[in-house]
Amino acid sequence: MTTYLGPSGILDKRKEYFYPCTAHFYERPPQLVRGDMQYLYDSTGKAYTDFFSGVSVVACGHCNPAITAATIKQLETLQHTCTIYLTEPNVALAEKMASVLPGNMKRTFFVNSGSEANEAALTLARLATGKKEFIALEYGLHGRTFLTMSVTGIPMWRSDNYLEEGVSFIPRPYDPNLNEQEAVERSLSALRKVLEEKGDRIAAMIVEPMQGNGGIVPAPLSYFTEVKKLLEKHHVLLIADEIQTGFGRTGKMFAIDHYGIVPDILTMAKALGNGVPIAAFATTDEIAAHYNRPSASTLGGNPVSSMTALAVLSYIENEQLIARAEQLGKQLKEGLLFIQTAYRAAITDVRGLGLMIGMELYANEPEKAAPLVDSILEEMKDRGFIIGKNGVNRNVIAFQPPLVITEQDITNMLEALADTLKRLL
Ligand SMILES: Cc1ncc(COP(=O)(O)O)c(C=O)c1O
Repeated sequence: MTTYLGPSGILDKRKEYFYPCTAHFYERPPQLVRGDMQYLYDSTGKAYTDFFSGVSVVACGHCNPAITAATIKQLETLQHTCTIYLTEPNVALAEKMASVLPGNMKRTFFVNSGSEANEAALTLARLATGKKEFIALEYGLHGRTFLTMSVTGIPMWRSDNYLEEGVSFIPRPYDPNLNEQEAVERSLSALRKVLEEKGDRIAAMIVEPMQGNGGIVPAPLSYFTEVKKLLEKHHVLLIADEIQTGFGRTGKMFAIDHYGIVPDILTMAKALGNGVPIAAFATTDEIAAHYNRPSASTLGGNPVSSMTALAVLSYIENEQLIARAEQLGKQLKEGLLFIQTAYRAAITDVRGLGLMIGMELYANEPEKAAPLVDSILEEMKDRGFIIGKNGVNRNVIAFQPPLVITEQDITNMLEALADTLKRLL
């Protein structure tokens, strides 16, 4: 029998060897030791249904046998060379990517993390336009590297005191105190103003089509058509950060597909490897042509990650996970909206697309909301459900389960949530 360190042993080691910036969920966190599709198991053998997917990563389920078989086979055959040598997995993956990417996006550059993909996408935009500055949305999150942290609009994730100054933040098209039209108009008029003042210096605008960390905030349907039009007028590129939303999560392959426009550059990570590190940024022939100085990523698109990602894309296709996300997303959202009817003062919003739904608590009373969200997460964990949280004030409960979740799992979670809220609200 395996002996485990247990939660307190792990916490002691984290305290001693990790940086103090590393946080964890829960007052009484379990030690997770095993995963099987939508289920996780702790060191005591207790089972949990996962509704957060390691933050939108394991869309195809934990340790999915169809995917791990492809990973292991490649590990045992050829683990690593580099793009300076010829191998087949990375070109097969790039070719496959071209068939799922929107519009005429065809070129893909593989890297290791979402931050790295966004950093490179920002560089690509500078190379393609000859311009330097960026526009970003307030409360967006794009990464931990220099430029990506600079375009991140959530104060708590801007750890560096000396970030790039050439970033203009504009309001996102959502504000709990404005109606949809007012919020869109406020955002677009700020965009117009920035473009008129300094469009000749701006290379790109980077956006999450649906903000994840900012509290699961989908942009209204009309928003990106207007944004794209304005950007094109000023020769500014649009980068869609699909790191959290990509690969079926929202009920379309990419969240931007809901909006009927095609971005100039699209970045992806998380679900592409289902837990194996791989990320990428993609664009058209025309824009890619500007990235012609030498560049390479040592581990980016290595054979193991590439074969894993190919297995992920096949699994999504074969199991029709995109339609499943749309269908089960409806059940989840309707269930949460029904729960909301009993607590209108506390649950100020339920929003999202597909299997990426947020339940916002006390939008205008963050001091009240954040501890309550923590108590809800803690009790749900004790009841066997791992749910997430995000939002600028950490006041949004996040539901982002593996797309292999079942109707029954959702029903069970909704029942447990209703009971929990009855006790805590
Ligand atoms: C939208 C978005 N962009 C970028 C990142 C950064 O990705 P990574 O942690 O892989 O560097 C994240 C991470 O959560 C994200 O949600």
